[in-house]
Amino acid sequence: MSKRRVAIIGCGQLAQMMAQEGQPLGVEFSFLAENGENTDCVKGLGTIVEMEPGQDPEALYQALGRPEVITSEREQVSVDLLRSFQPFCPVYPDPHITEKAQHRLREKRALTDSGLPVAPFAAAQGEKELREAVDQLGYPAFIKSCENGYDGKNQWCVKSAADLDAAIPQAGDQECVVEAGVNFACEVSIIGARSASGEIKAYPLTENRHRNGTLLLSTAPYDNPELLKAAEGYLATLLKDWDYVGVLAVECFVSESGLIVNEVAPRVHNSGHWTFVGPEASQFANHIRAILDMPLGDTACPVPVAMVNMLGVDVAPKQDNDGVWLYGKALRPGRKMGHVILQDPDMDQLRERSEKMIEELYGEKI
Ligand SMILES: Nc1ncnc2c1ncn2[C@@H]1O[C@H](COP(=O)(O)OP(=O)(O)O)[C@@H](O)[C@H]1O
Ligand SMILES: [Mg+2]
Repeated sequence: MSKRRVAIIGCGQLAQMMAQEGQPLGVEFSFLAENGENTDCVKGLGTIVEMEPGQDPEALYQALGRPEVITSEREQVSVDLLRSFQPFCPVYPDPHITEKAQHRLREKRALTDSGLPVAPFAAAQGEKELREAVDQLGYPAFIKSCENGYDGKNQWCVKSAADLDAAIPQAGDQECVVEAGVNFACEVSIIGARSASGEIKAYPLTENRHRNGTLLLSTAPYDNPELLKAAEGYLATLLKDWDYVGVLAVECFVSESGLIVNEVAPRVHNSGHWTFVGPEASQFANHIRAILDMPLGDTACPVPVAMVNMLGVDVAPKQDNDGVWLYGKALRPGRKMGHVILQDPDMDQLRERSEKMIEELYGEKI
C-alpha cells in the first residue's frame, strides 16, 4: 500500500502523539514549525519545515512533501496561513472552525446559534463595559480575554468588587467575554471524531479536574447515561452544523440544570489522552483516520481508565500504572511534561489509585 501523507502545523506533544499513532496506519508526517518554535517533541517522526516570514504557500506546501491533508495541533494558528493552503489540499478542521474557536465571543455565539446551552455571557471591552457586564451577570463572574486564553491564562475569576478592581487593569483594553460563574458539581468533556464522509464516533464522557486552570486528572467513563446522551447530542450537532472533519472536544459543566457547554477545542485534547489505553482506537488515531477518510476505530472503553498529567514534574512514578508518556521537553514549572495512565475494573479503586499517583508525582495531596 502506498504511503499516505499528512502535514501537521505545530511541533508539540499533540503533534508527536498524532504522528506516533498515525504511523502504524501507514501514514507519513511532516511538521510545520512557526516562529522559532521548539521542535524537540517531533524529532525523528518526520520532516520538520521551519516557516520563514513571507514564504510563498506553494513553496511551503512543497517543502511539507505535498501532503494529502493539513491539520493543526492547536487552535492558536493563523487562519490566513490555514486558508493559504486550501488551494493545494484540504485543511481539517476547516479554517472557519478555527476562526470561531480561537475567539471566545465568536465561539460562544456559534454555540448558541447551534442551540447549545452556555453560561449567561456578555461582550465587554475596557473598564466601563467590564463593570456593566459584571453588574448585569453578578458574582462570581469570569472575565476572559477573547483571544490567547488557554490553561486558565488570560482569565480572571471575580468574586467581589475588590476582585473586579484588581482584574480591570489586567484585562486592560482587550476584547473580553464576561460569563456568569456556573455552580457545577464537576467538569466533563466529550471527544469525538467525524470523518470526511460523515461517519461519527464518540468516546465515553470524561470527568476532569484542574489545578491552577490546567488539567490535572481525567477519569472515564463518567457514568451517567442521561448526561452522556446529552453530550453526544451536543457533539453531533456541532460536528454536523460545522461540517467538521477530525476530532473535536467539548468541555462542559455538570450543573443542576444539566450540561452547560464551557468551550470547545477543534483538535485532539488533553482530556482524551487516556484513549491510548482502553479503546481500540485512540483519539490521535481517529483524528488521522477521520481526516484521511478512513473508517473510524472503535471508541468503546469497557474498563475504567484515568490519566494524571505531569505538570512541571518529569520523574516516572514507581507505583503500578498502565503507561508513562514523557514528551521529551525541557523541565519548566507547571509545564506539561508527560502523563501517566491507570486502568482498573473497579472505579473506586481507580479513583484511589489516581489520588496516590498524584501524591507520588507532586509529593503532596492536591
Ligand atoms: N463560567 C464559568 N463558571 C465556573 N467556572 C468556570 C467558568 N469559566 C471557566 N471556569 C473554570 O475555569 C477553567 C478554565 O476556563 P476555560 O474557559 O476552560 O479556559 P481555558 O481555555 O483556559 O481552559 C474551567 O475549566 C473552569 O474550571
Ligand atoms: Mg478549558
